[in-house]
Amino acid sequence: MGELRFQGGVAVITGAASGIGTGLARKAAALGMRLVLADVQERVLRDFAATLDGDVLAMPTDVADAASVERLAQNTYERFGSVDLLFNNAGVLTTGFSWQIEPERWKRSFDINFNGVLHGLRSFVPRLLKAGRPAHIVNTSSVGGFLPSPLMAPYSASKFAVLALTESLRAELEMLKAPVGVSLLAPGPVQSGIFNDPFGPQADPAAQAFVDSMRTLLTRHGLTPDAFAERVFASIARGQYWLIPQPEAFDEPFRQRNEDIAARRNPRPLW
Ligand SMILES: NC(=O)c1ccc[n+]([C@@H]2O[C@H](COP(=O)([O-])OP(=O)(O)OC[C@H]3O[C@@H](n4cnc5c(N)ncnc54)[C@H](O)[C@@H]3O)[C@@H](O)[C@H]2O)c1
Repeated sequence: MGELRFQGGVAVITGAASGIGTGLARKAAALGMRLVLADVQERVLRDFAATLDGDVLAMPTDVADAASVERLAQNTYERFGSVDLLFNNAGVLTTGFSWQIEPERWKRSFDINFNGVLHGLRSFVPRLLKAGRPAHIVNTSSVGGFLPSPLMAPYSASKFAVLALTESLRAELEMLKAPVGVSLLAPGPVQSGIFNDPFGPQADPAAQAFVDSMRTLLTRHGLTPDAFAERVFASIARGQYWLIPQPEAFDEPFRQRNEDIAARRNPRPLW
């Protein structure tokens, strides 16, 4: 039945006001899904929601705050009564040398990138289990959640943590024979606002050069959020756990890294 099984269903998307979230929302709307869009950028979120046809609930939400995500779940169920697809998508990038990044910025990375996903699971999984009907959860990590990078350690570390959490979750839902599926999404470069504000009070020149090169990479080689969302939904419809829509950014470095670890070879230069 493929993507059509989502027709008329309900999709919840965090980080929906920008980039990948907007592509997922437009694709879900095109499939005839009803939407719950969540983001901290309230104004941008409402403006974006107004561009979509269909039944759309825009919920200002801070995924770093468990109570805010719980309100998101409550409002979702009050309005629509069920959830078919949950995208734990919100994320932020933090750059700099790992020892120079201030503790608050380290904490913020984990609060959003990891705890944001965890809060989504804590508020939605019990409701999905109680409903006992088919549903699917997509947690967003990154190619950087498999392949660490210099100058963005909080990002890499929090995305590695999402990888582990998501595999644990999948095994737990299998143990319970729950009808709730899980996928891990690892985007490569996608045109978005992720590199808009990655610095703390001081941008180190090396971090600035790194961010400039990443911005160029996204502009030149990044998929549009809409093209990216097409691939994501197609992979979900095929029942895939590993959603790796851009194998060209993943397969070879991932193979090399695994071979190096198996052979106890030291890491190759990453930069
Ligand atoms: N764009 C890429 O190349 C790329 C690559 C790998 C992974 N990702 C991941 O994809 C996801 C989406 O990122 P994007 O590239 O679309 O970036 P983006 O910056 O365009 O969008 C992220 C959205 O998350 C929202 N957000 C940030 N903090 C939040 C919070 N506390 N609560 C709720 N919403 C919050 C932002 O307001 C923004 O609208 C992120 O998890 C990111 O790490 C992106």
